[in-house]
Amino acid sequence: WKKSDLTNLNDAISKNKPFLMRIYLVGFMGSGKTTFGRKLAQKLGYAFADLDERLTAYTGKTIPELFTNLGEAGFRKLEQEVLHQTITDADLVVSTGGGTPCFFDNMAWMNTNGKTVYMHLDAKALANRLEHAKSPRPLLAGRKGEELLTFIEEKLAERQVFYQQANMMVSGIDLTPEKLLIYLEAAQVR
Ligand code: S3P
Repeated sequence: WKKSDLTNLNDAISKNKPFLMRIYLVGFMGSGKTTFGRKLAQKLGYAFADLDERLTAYTGKTIPELFTNLGEAGFRKLEQEVLHQTITDADLVVSTGGGTPCFFDNMAWMNTNGKTVYMHLDAKALANRLEHAKSPRPLLAGRKGEELLTFIEEKLAERQVFYQQANMMVSGIDLTPEKLLIYLEAAQVR
């Protein structure tokens, strides 16, 4: 984050006036990107986009349908297309899919075209949340208990390298927009 970004952000918040910025939330499935993204957008007076929702609106198909019809490779191409469409909006919070930063040059692209925040949770916390999650996730289909935990541990280890390229990493536990803004100010000091 550049000092000017933070000055602008704080200024915008205090005056309740939006300014040009895109924030991309990245992290594993179940880390709370969508719920938090909505709250953050509301606090900042920004628009909100959830990439999975945009994919569904763009294609008229659910995420599991897209995986079944196109395979993961086809899904990732469409996901990149929808990610690139976010360039037309400013003052925008984007919740990405758990795999978005890990394909093509998506992570570098987000870092170039906005600010990125990694919402971090450990594998156990993710497994607890995902065990009871309602939205169907093709990569997790049929996995439960120990098998789910092992899968998450392995996938997270693989993906962490991408997530860690984010401009900032925050704990996803009890994260609030207010806390994120405090972290941003702390980053300015460092
Ligand atoms: C995926 C995460 C999902 C969705 C798809 C693939 C992944 O998004 O894009 O099921 O590869 O981790 P969420 O992170 O919102 O669950």
